[in-house]
This record gives sequence, C-alpha cells and structure tokens, in this order.
Amino acid sequence: MDDLKKILFENQGKIKNIHSKDELDSLKTILLGKNGKINQLFKKLSELENNEKKEFASQLNDLKVQITNSINKKYSEIELSTINQKLKNERIDITLPGREVLSGKIHPVAQVIDEISSIFSEIGFSIEEGPDVESEFNNFTALNTPSDHPARDMHDTFYLDSSKEFLLRTHTSPVQIRTMLKGNSPFKIIAPGRTYRCDSDQTHTPMFHQVEGLHIDENLNMGHLKGCLDYFIKEFFEVKKIKMRFRPSHFPFTEPSAEVDIGYKIKDGKIVIGEGDKWLEILGCGMVHPNVLKNVKVDPSKFQGYAFGMGIDRLAMLKYGINDLRSFFESDCRWLKFFGFDPLDIPTNYRGLSR
Ligand code: PHE
Repeated sequence: MDDLKKILFENQGKIKNIHSKDELDSLKTILLGKNGKINQLFKKLSELENNEKKEFASQLNDLKVQITNSINKKYSEIELSTINQKLKNERIDITLPGREVLSGKIHPVAQVIDEISSIFSEIGFSIEEGPDVESEFNNFTALNTPSDHPARDMHDTFYLDSSKEFLLRTHTSPVQIRTMLKGNSPFKIIAPGRTYRCDSDQTHTPMFHQVEGLHIDENLNMGHLKGCLDYFIKEFFEVKKIKMRFRPSHFPFTEPSAEVDIGYKIKDGKIVIGEGDKWLEILGCGMVHPNVLKNVKVDPSKFQGYAFGMGIDRLAMLKYGINDLRSFFESDCRWLKFFGFDPLDIPTNYRGLSR
C-alpha cells in the first residue's frame, strides 16, 4: 500500500516539473499506457489473496484517477502557456510609426477645383453641377447657338447617336441653363466639371475641365465682370498685382463678348504672372445674351448679368508649371507623386490656397 502512495508522490513531483507536451506525452505512456506502470500493477492483482484484492484494486483505481487528473491538468497548463507565449511573441505595437507609408495625393485638377471653389465662395458664389451627358438643347439651342453654328460641327462635338439629341457637353455653359430653369433670379453660381471635345495635342485633350461662372441680378454690368475676374485671378495666382486684357470676341450666348488674357513673363525657366509683356488667353466671358435669358424665362428687361468660362487644366498648368496637358490624364503614379497635393491641406482663403 505504501508503495502506491510513493508512486503517486514521486510521479506528481515529476509531472510538476514537466514543461513540454512531448515530455508529458512520454510520461503518460510510461504510467497510463497499455504496458504502463499502472496496468502492470493491475496485473499483480491476480497474485493477491482474495481479501487483499478488493482493497488493493480500489487504491489502485484511486491512484489511476489521481495521476490521470494531474496529467490532464498539466496538459491544460502547457496549452495555456504556449498560447500566452505565442501571443507575446506575435504582439504588434500598433502605435509604432509605419516604416513605409504610401500616402495618396490630390490630383492638380482636383486641387485647382478646390482652390477656385474656395475663392468664389468667399464672394458669394455657390457651386452647381451638371451631368456630362447633355441634351443638344441645353448645350447649344438654349444658349442661343443656331443650328448652323460651327461649334456644332461633328469635328468638335461627341454626339451619342445619329439623332444628335444627346451629346457629351462641349462646355460647362449648359449648367447656366439648368440653374436658371430650376430657380428664380438672382443667380450667383460657379459650375466646375468635365467637358469634351474631339481634339488631342499638347494643349488639347478630348476630355478637359472647365469652370463656368454666372451672375444674374438687377443692375449688373461689364464693370462687375471685370472686378470679379480681377479679384479671382489675383487670388488664384496668389499675387498682389496682375495685368489683364479684355479682347473683343464672339460667343453666341454673350453680348458683348470678350476673351481675357493675362500678362506674364518667363524668368529662370519659370512663369511669373503679373509682370512682363507676354499675353496668355485664359478665359471667355461676356454679358449674358437677352435671348438666353428669354429661353429660361428670365425677364431681360429686369435682369441681366455676366458669365464666364475658364479651362481648369490650363490654370493648373500655369500655376504649377506643368507643360504637357496630356500628362494630366495618363494616370502615372510617379507624375502624381511629384505634382500632387497633400490630402489634408485643403485649400482655404484664410489659411492659404497652395501652401
Ligand atoms: N463656353 C465658352 C467656351 O467654352 C466660354 C464662355 C462661357 C464664354 C461663358 C462666355 C461666357 O469657350
């Protein structure tokens, strides 16, 4: 009997000192296996006298139960400590700064749209949008563009089908029509967006961006147009002084019409706005034609105003020194990394537009 207690005591000590599953597996085989110690002892039962058998069998059973329990307990302990060790080893410190941070960039066109929106918002213009697919009516007819006008030529316009009823808008001016049809005077809006013309070279891409401006109220004149553009160009190019020139021009939807050039010079390979004697055309504008107002049920004897349209990509090229328009739309990540803007530097007038 004392032997059994000794066996229990000894083996519990052994179990206690085991720290690996393999060791425990082999001890388990030695003790509880088919030819293990306990089974050997059970075999001895037959050698005993009948009166001793019962007592010994019950003690042997106790021994087996206790050893089994200790071994199972040890298995759980080992399993738990393995998991804890694993968790400790594989722990990631998510507060560490990244070693390689790939941050996205804002495309110069998106940046310039934000800048323009910020500048015009400051003087009370709200922002409108229109769809890329337009009706022939909004893009041309309502804008006083007669059906024989060269701008409607197949060379310039992407029509969507042979009926020529729908097209990809060739300018943002149809947003003037949409805005005036759905609201009441006065109107003071800008409308940035994509425009399409069948044209492609270093300074033309089939898709490009424009921003439209429309201001309709009582008593507006060319002076207001000039003041507005003067303010915009100074703010946009972040200069105190600019040179601006209005050249007479023609658009069916404005009368009188003008094209605006800004003065610049090239210094050390860089463009300087507001100095020098070179001129660069940047926008078309004029006083909204009375026929356009009539087409959208605005009374031209009471209301009038000005409109303008600028090429956004062109403004971006000028401001940020990018010389091939086609590179804007090639989706080259290296280009974007170089010319792109930080997503968190949202342009605002008070904090600065591009810095
Ligand atoms: N829509 C004209 C263009 O694309 C620009 C323009 C807009 C001119 C508004 C006058 C008034 O060239």
